[in-house]
Amino acid sequence: MTDTATIEIDNKKYEFPIVKGTENEVAIDISKLRASTGGVITLDSGYKNTGSCESAITFLDGEKGVLRYRGYSIEELAEKADFLEVAYLLIFGELPTKEQNDKFHDDIKAESAVDEDIKKILDAFPKAAHPMGVISSLTSALTAFNPSSVNVDSEEDMYKSVVRILGKMPVLVAWTMRKKQGQPLDYGDNSLGYVENLLKMMFSRPNSCYVQNPVLVDALDKLLILHADHEQNCSTSTVRITGSSHAGLFASLSAGISALWGPLHGGANQAVLEMLEAIQEDGGDTKKYMAKAKDKSDPFRLMGFGHRVYKNFDPRAKIIKKAADQVLHDLGVEDPILEIAKGLEKEALEDQYFVDRKLYPNVDFYSGIIYRAMGIPIEMFTVMFAIGRLPGWIAQWREMRLRKEPIGRPRQLYIGETSRDFIPINKR
Ligand code: SDX
Repeated sequence: MTDTATIEIDNKKYEFPIVKGTENEVAIDISKLRASTGGVITLDSGYKNTGSCESAITFLDGEKGVLRYRGYSIEELAEKADFLEVAYLLIFGELPTKEQNDKFHDDIKAESAVDEDIKKILDAFPKAAHPMGVISSLTSALTAFNPSSVNVDSEEDMYKSVVRILGKMPVLVAWTMRKKQGQPLDYGDNSLGYVENLLKMMFSRPNSCYVQNPVLVDALDKLLILHADHEQNCSTSTVRITGSSHAGLFASLSAGISALWGPLHGGANQAVLEMLEAIQEDGGDTKKYMAKAKDKSDPFRLMGFGHRVYKNFDPRAKIIKKAADQVLHDLGVEDPILEIAKGLEKEALEDQYFVDRKLYPNVDFYSGIIYRAMGIPIEMFTVMFAIGRLPGWIAQWREMRLRKEPIGRPRQLYIGETSRDFIPINKR
């Protein structure tokens, strides 16, 4: 392959360097395009063909269904690591030694208290508030309680901010759920592991002793790992561009949470369950919903299917589907919704419309079935996605700042009115 790409405009040729990544991906560096052509830019709605950055955190191959965090396969990490090990790996680039891992756990526990005044903000929300809106607000509010901005060039300062947000987010998540349920807040127990403590804060009751269920702990730990990063998806790109203005870490994470909320992105896990429940109420008529999904006049989409990058099975969906079977079996839960999901998947994988468009189940298709089996309310599903994605967002924010990337400011192609004179109101 040549090391430059040539673009010809008005019979004039312009050459641009071709750059290659460590996985042999190829990109044309057009950073000099506008200057060298006197103003020509590229146009790529949704950035389907445009790389926003170089990154060393996550590699995925959408055609082959490959996903790796810092070079380690998602299959191995989901099987052999725990969530905080993966968080450390994503953020600092290497799996932690035992000493680093133990210190990371201890430092996160030391940060697992939140200012009591956070409760005043929480109390100001109506019970009907969607938890994603609450969590986004509380995350932004953390800036007020931790005003010192992160000095990314200081390893110590960055580490402190990492353990602070990883320590406090589970509390905010659990309190948000309990507030909505009218339950008293639970302050957790630092003698427990990270996921055990999250589950206790979410599900303990003041009038009974909370008993850990290792099946749920293992399933949630795996789900958090599978959601931990996914290169330049919508919410991660939001975190990066927000941080590129040198907005603080908590403010950037709050923006990412809001972007994840959308039903085309992380909000899909809630939308999948709502869709499956609608199909169940409709007598399990999956064919009707398949037809709706293919009907261009119908805005309905088969939620949990399709992906901007994966044109093969989402490797996370395979692992989550297996985990869903295991969790329901271990819990002795017969959930007809899982059978409807499997039936829908089978039909879609045999349907020409879906095959032609390479629409496969994505990470959101089966995750909600596990959350539901765990007793997590449907409106909390995307919050669970957010707590899983937290290390990825932090890692990507840190990488962007350490690489001293410029403020993100895309160009546009103007298609509005050309210059015209003002018309006085009495003449309009
Ligand atoms: C996540 O980017 C990431 O990495 C995200 C994520 C992460 O970890 O961060 O993986 C998490 O967000 C997973 C995706 C969750 N969203 C959903 O499940 C919502 C349903 N899926 C779609 O809305 C859609 O597939 C997207 C948004 C995921 C991707 O959309 P694209 O890449 O913009 O594709 P498109 O909308 O241009 O669709 C291409 C074609 C169109 O048909 P034609 O115009 O070619 O005839 O496929 C059709 C679409 O109509 N299509 C679907 C469909 N998804 C795409 N038709 C029916 N049902 C669907 N789900």
